[in-house]
Amino acid sequence: MSKVRVYQLAKELGMSSKELINKLAELDITVTNHMSALEEETADILKELYEVKREDTNEKTENKKKTNKKGSKNKKTKEASKIEEKEHDQEAIMIPETIVVQEFANKIGKSVSEIITKLIGLGVFASANQNIDYDVAASIALDFGMAVQKEEEKEEDEFGIEEIPDRPEDLKERPPVITVMGHVDHGKTSLLDAIRNTNVTSREAGGITQHIGASEVEVNGKRIVFLDTPGHEAFTSMRARGASITDIAILVVAADDGVMPQTKEAISHAKAAGVPIIVALNKIDRPNANPDRVKQELSENGVLIEEWGGDTICVPVSALKGEGIDNLLEMILLVAEMQELKANPNKLASGTVIEAKLDKSRGPVATILVQNGTLKVGDSIVAGAVYGRIRAMVNDKGNNIKKAGPATAVEILGLSDVPEAGDRFNAVKEDKLARQIVEKRRAKIREESLNATAKVSLEDLFKHI
Ligand code: GTP
Ligand code: MG
Repeated sequence: MSKVRVYQLAKELGMSSKELINKLAELDITVTNHMSALEEETADILKELYEVKREDTNEKTENKKKTNKKGSKNKKTKEASKIEEKEHDQEAIMIPETIVVQEFANKIGKSVSEIITKLIGLGVFASANQNIDYDVAASIALDFGMAVQKEEEKEEDEFGIEEIPDRPEDLKERPPVITVMGHVDHGKTSLLDAIRNTNVTSREAGGITQHIGASEVEVNGKRIVFLDTPGHEAFTSMRARGASITDIAILVVAADDGVMPQTKEAISHAKAAGVPIIVALNKIDRPNANPDRVKQELSENGVLIEEWGGDTICVPVSALKGEGIDNLLEMILLVAEMQELKANPNKLASGTVIEAKLDKSRGPVATILVQNGTLKVGDSIVAGAVYGRIRAMVNDKGNNIKKAGPATAVEILGLSDVPEAGDRFNAVKEDKLARQIVEKRRAKIREESLNATAKVSLEDLFKHI
C-alpha cells in the first residue's frame, strides 16, 4: 500500500503540517514530523473527516455526504467538534490578575449590568468602577461560554526593561532565521552565494569568513534570513551565537571531506540550542565525492538522516554548479512552516547584537537581528552596557531603511559605544531611560569586577599566610 507524507496531506487539507500533527495526536495517531509517512487508508479517513468538518460549518452541503457510514460519521463529528473546541480555545480572552468591572464588560462584549447580575449570583458585590479578581472574571466569562486565559504579569528585569509577554492575537507570522554552519572550506559562503546569486566568497580575505554575515532572500514570496558563520576553529563563540539565535541550522558538509571537527562542533551547538538541522551535502560535483560515507559519519555523530530512518533532512547540493539549491530552499520553508514562527511587529524592538565594531568614519556600528517588535530610526536603544539613538539603519543590500520588523538583520548607527557581540538589545521609550539603564548596568559590571579583584587579592593574601 502506498504512503502519504504528513506535509503532503496537510497541503491537501489546506492546513500547516504542525496543525495536522496536532490533529493526528488528538486521534491518537503519533507521528514524528512533517516527513513521517501515513498509510493511504489513514490519509483517506482524515480527508473524509475534514470534509465532514467543513460540512458541519456549511449547512448548504449538508446533503452531499449523508451516506451509509453512519457510525463513522458520528465519530467524526465528535472529533471535528473536539477540534473546533480546541480552535476556540486558542482565541481565549486574556484577563489580568485583577480587572475593573467596566473594562471586563467591554472586553467580553457584555453590558455592565449583565456582569453585575452575574457577580451578585456569585455573592460578589462590586460597582462598574471596582476591581474583581481573575477567578471571578474567569468564571463569569466561562458562564457566557467564552474561553479565558490569565494574562501574565508584566515583568521588568532588574534594570527596568519591561518584557511584556505577547498576546496570541498580536502575533504575526515572521520569516525564519537560518544559520549556515559547518567545517572550514566546506562551502558555506559559496552556498549562500548560490542562494543569493552573489559572489562573496571571492572577495573574502584568504577565502575565509571572519564574521557572521547576514543576508535575506525571497523564495516564493517568502522572506528567509540567512546568517553565514565562519568555519575556522578560532570562531567557536560566533558559531555558538549563530546557533542560539536561529530557527534552523543548515549544516554544510563537503561530500569529498566528510564530518570534520567543526562539523561536530556545529552539530553540538545546534543540539544545545534545540535547533533543527538540515544537512546540505555540498560539493557533490567533485569526482571523489562520497555521500554514503558522509551519511555514515553523520549517523555516528548523532545526526540520522531520513534515508537512514531518522528525522534529519539531507539535501545533496553543489554550490559551485548551483545544483540542488531549489530543493534545499523548499526544505527550509517546509521545516520553517512546521515551526509556525511568530512575532509581534507592533511593539518596541528587541533582539541580539550579531557583531559590532568601531568604524573610523561612522563611529560604533553594530549588526543586529531584530527578533521581536519593530525598530525605527530615532528609537532609543540599550544594547548590553551601551545606549544610543538610532541615527541610521542599513539593510543587507546596503540600502538605508527607516524601520526593521521581526527577523530582520540590520546595521545600526548612533550607539554611544561598541556593544559586545551576543548582547541583547531593547528599544526603550526614551533616551533618559536608556541612559539610566546603562548607568545601572555599568555600575553592576564595575561592582562585579571590583569583587572579583578583591576576591583574588584575598586569596593571594591567604596563600602567603
Ligand atoms: P569558511 O567561511 O572559511 O569556513 O569557508 P566556507 O565554508 O564558507 O567555504 P567557501 O564557500 O569559502 O568555499 C571554500 C572553497 O570550496 C572555495 O574554493 C569554493 O569555490 C569551493 N566550493 C564551494 N562549494 C563547492 C562545490 O559545490 N563544489 C566544488 N567543486 N567546490 C566548491
Ligand atoms: Mg565562509
